[in-house]
Amino acid sequence: MTGKRLLVTGGAGFIGSNFVRMALAEADIACLVNLDKLTYAGNLRSLADVEDDARYVFVRGDICDRPLVERLLREHDIGTIVHFAAESHVDRSIVGPDAFVRTNVVGTFTLLEAARTVWGDDVANRRFLHVSTDEVYGSLGETGYFSETTPYDPRSPYSASKAGSDHLASAYFHTYGLPVLITNCSNNYGPYQFPEKLIPLIINNARQGKELPVYGDGRNVRDWLYVDDHCRAILAVLQGGRPGETYNIGGNSEKQNIEVVQTICDLLDVKLGLLDGRPRRSLIRFVKDRAGHDRRYAIDATKIRNELGWKPQVRFEEGIQKTIDWYLEHQDWLDAVLDGSYQDYYARMYENR
Ligand code: NAD
Ligand code: DAU
Repeated sequence: MTGKRLLVTGGAGFIGSNFVRMALAEADIACLVNLDKLTYAGNLRSLADVEDDARYVFVRGDICDRPLVERLLREHDIGTIVHFAAESHVDRSIVGPDAFVRTNVVGTFTLLEAARTVWGDDVANRRFLHVSTDEVYGSLGETGYFSETTPYDPRSPYSASKAGSDHLASAYFHTYGLPVLITNCSNNYGPYQFPEKLIPLIINNARQGKELPVYGDGRNVRDWLYVDDHCRAILAVLQGGRPGETYNIGGNSEKQNIEVVQTICDLLDVKLGLLDGRPRRSLIRFVKDRAGHDRRYAIDATKIRNELGWKPQVRFEEGIQKTIDWYLEHQDWLDAVLDGSYQDYYARMYENR
């Protein structure tokens, strides 16, 4: 039973909200508690369609609040923790690393300690899944792939804080026997992503005829994965993954940034027509590069494919079209994010419940 009672952290964010929706729809779940601080990146409008599900509980709170986390684990008899909550944007980590160390390192430590305290030795059917990133492995040259045995070499405050949290999670398995699993995934895209990240930023700017900032020479490579495929991989790891193991998750879909931006421009031109007679590619501007910009990421996902039978189902060409269509059809969601009104949603929907 305990395995069917989930604590999801950061469930109001991009991947977390997609995961909560998929888990409630497809997995055998008795109770799902979503603990989220609702930072700028947390948006309860992304979960409006599940908030009346009797199995779903939303709690606004900080993963660094140990008494709160321990209370939730006890009160809801949590058997599975799926830990998404993080500061996630590399550019923000360059200008303000403090919140990254606090949430990503101290917050993960707090969750691990709370789980160790509340679960004690009763861990047989329990799982702590720590959701992490391929950025912990550093930067690749033109060839090669990140595998689970690639040495860590993080380059940004974001990736360093995620690397620190991965090491803590792994240490809790080896030292205390906490049933920790770690996933390291490549770049996600899809519905409900905050429009600071490359793909939604470019869709939104190109739609509105604003300039499209491409860092450096635009030849940096990312391995893109549709968010539903990441969520399916997490469910597969929860179901069949072995505690103490790491699973790399990737899209097998490497693209240069400039290719991604041009593709979005071309698809929007077809869908909406040219912009005052000009193709949207004319909006592209090469701008100053990101400090310490990793050149290339690419994942070798052999382990999760062979052990758990997971592989991506959505090809980039299909996923990017679906993503563009979603943003065009959910202008209300995007407008509420852009004008900041999404942050009132909690007060309207939850404070007087
Ligand atoms: P996001 O920024 O969209 O969402 C983060 C969520 O965490 C938000 O809802 C925010 O309110 C919440 N949060 C932040 N600090 C918190 C705190 N102290 N206490 C409680 N909640 C807090 O992030 P995302 O893109 O959905 O990423 C989710 C996780 O997946 C992160 O751990 C990230 O490192 C990892 N990841 C992301 C990607 C990607 O491409 N986006 C790829 C691989 C791994
Ligand atoms: O690889 C997984 C990681 O992917 C996750 O761990 C992070 O949470 C997630 O934010 C993402 O990090 P990136 O830095 O790769 O994503 P971002 O969307 O910020 O940028 C993608 C690429 O596009 C990167 O090479 C920088 C470039 N870029 C980004 C922005 C926002 C631009 O050229 N212009 C932009 O305006």
